[in-house]
Amino acid sequence: MCGIVGYVGGREAVEVLLDGLRRLEYRGYDSAGVAVLNGQGLKLAKAVGRLANLEAELKQNPVHGNVGIGHTRWATHGAPSVRNSHPHVSYDNRLGLIHNGIIENYRELKAELQGQGVKFQSDTDTEVVAHLVARVYQGDLLKALAEVLPRLRGAYALAMVHEGEPGRVVATRMGSPLVIGVGEGENFLASDVPALLKYTRRVIFLEEGQLADLGREGVRLHGPDLSLLPAKVHVTDLTLDAAEKDGFEHFMLKEIHEQPRALAETIRGRITDGRLDLAELGLTAETLKRVRRVALVACGTSLYASMVGKHLFERFTRLPAETWSASEFRYADPVIDDSVLVVAVSQSGETADTLEALRLAKARNALSLSICNVMGSSIPRTCDGTLYTRAGPEIGVASTKAYTTQLAAFALLAGGIGRLLGRVSEAREAELVQGLMRLPGQVKALLDKDIVAVKRCAKKYKDVFNFMYIGRHFNHPTAMEGALKLKEISYIHAECYAGGEMKHGPLALVDANLPTIAIAPRGGTREKLLSNVQEIKARSGVVVLVATEGDAAAKELADYLIEIPDCAEELSPILAVVPLQLLAYYTATQLGRDVDKPRNLAKSVTVE
Ligand code: M6R
Repeated sequence: MCGIVGYVGGREAVEVLLDGLRRLEYRGYDSAGVAVLNGQGLKLAKAVGRLANLEAELKQNPVHGNVGIGHTRWATHGAPSVRNSHPHVSYDNRLGLIHNGIIENYRELKAELQGQGVKFQSDTDTEVVAHLVARVYQGDLLKALAEVLPRLRGAYALAMVHEGEPGRVVATRMGSPLVIGVGEGENFLASDVPALLKYTRRVIFLEEGQLADLGREGVRLHGPDLSLLPAKVHVTDLTLDAAEKDGFEHFMLKEIHEQPRALAETIRGRITDGRLDLAELGLTAETLKRVRRVALVACGTSLYASMVGKHLFERFTRLPAETWSASEFRYADPVIDDSVLVVAVSQSGETADTLEALRLAKARNALSLSICNVMGSSIPRTCDGTLYTRAGPEIGVASTKAYTTQLAAFALLAGGIGRLLGRVSEAREAELVQGLMRLPGQVKALLDKDIVAVKRCAKKYKDVFNFMYIGRHFNHPTAMEGALKLKEISYIHAECYAGGEMKHGPLALVDANLPTIAIAPRGGTREKLLSNVQEIKARSGVVVLVATEGDAAAKELADYLIEIPDCAEELSPILAVVPLQLLAYYTATQLGRDVDKPRNLAKSVTVE
């Protein structure tokens, strides 16, 4: 949801900025722009659409300088256009500014500035900040920014340069991510760590409300009152390779194939001597004594992982569990107090709705945990403990390895808490542990088969207008996630129902032109789901069936059979979703879609 980068040092700033933006393009691709200082004023370049358009523009009209800021936009206020592209410039043309987030009170600030005669160049919420800072600027950009911040409401990561101070970039954040890269004789900033890895692995995660002052020789951090703060430098263990395509045509396909390793990483160290080990969370039977209920909050794919999580929690802990779309939770006045364990689930750790839902839960004294993929992001920093998924950077907008690792993390968490509460027997625990340990190899086997049936289905059905996905219990969320994947990257409409609901209405949609993807691995609801499939077949429906290897009844019923390895039903969503990810991928590529950057979307939704 908008990516921002900044640079001050001895290199050509544009090269560093473009490289950073390339690695942040997953955050938005409606337009891109840079602003560079070279001692002769502020030089700008902007282009609508993909970063490639900005690169072409810069080839035609190069800008040079060693200090600059860059932005890749996901439009919120104002259509994608050159005039709405960042960087925005102050009315005196001396200050350039980039922003990720939303300034919620921009209307009143704009009216005030217009009343003072300021002419606006864009339809964005961001532009007000450039003018406000310019109005109070008296030779010190940091001071001017600090003076304006109390007037802003909303979420922001902001970075700016001023031609009066050509060796300086200043930045701040509130509710949107910003990380500083510390170099030798040069310093950087970006929305996300992968944008920095080519230059440095030494990073500072800016805290909410802090200001950063970047010069060639150093970085200084300040509080809102400009008091100097100590800077905590982390050395990230992420590598540049992890953020490259590695020979795959798309990040999504690479990330699908990374799932065996990502699952192994997620499990690593969390099973000791054959037992679930959640020591890193510091949970004890004593801390859990107060918990009477579990509430899971998340958005999108992470929400579907939470729906599986609900079933895992109920099965292993026997605590009632509920799943909330984070954007609904916030406005539903949910019944939350200190007897509730709230688990926020997020790949990015920056999703605005999930973060706010977590803050609400904390304000009501809930015990809070998160399942998250990005180390040091806002959600883990806000809650009492985090189980990191360790999937590595997920760049494709469509979430894949984040999902399966979230499911594994839920199994560890629910099983581990169940054990602490004395509700999981040793035998049951051993079964779960063995199942978890077999998963990486099973997913690998599934991927190695290359799933010919999946490719055949993608080819056959790529031109239909609608798909139906059905599943039950543990695999109802699998069906929802499969339908989301297809919609998101192929733009084909897909409905999803719990199998038993079909006869209450959606069966009317079924005919020979509506393929149904049915998820029926071994488990308590398999037979029921196969009956639902019979009902569809009886009405001339075509069915692609995902079933456990060797299931003769499934083979007989299916128009296309996709077999997955046998496993306990609690873990079957991890295996069953893999062919659905591939089905969406191959359908989208056959339709020529831009799989890693689907239209209208962006990764890491840092606005409400
Ligand atoms: O980073 P998060 O897990 O919090 O993101 C939540 C959703 O925005 C995300 O899962 C989205 O639905 C994906 N694009 C789905 O593939």
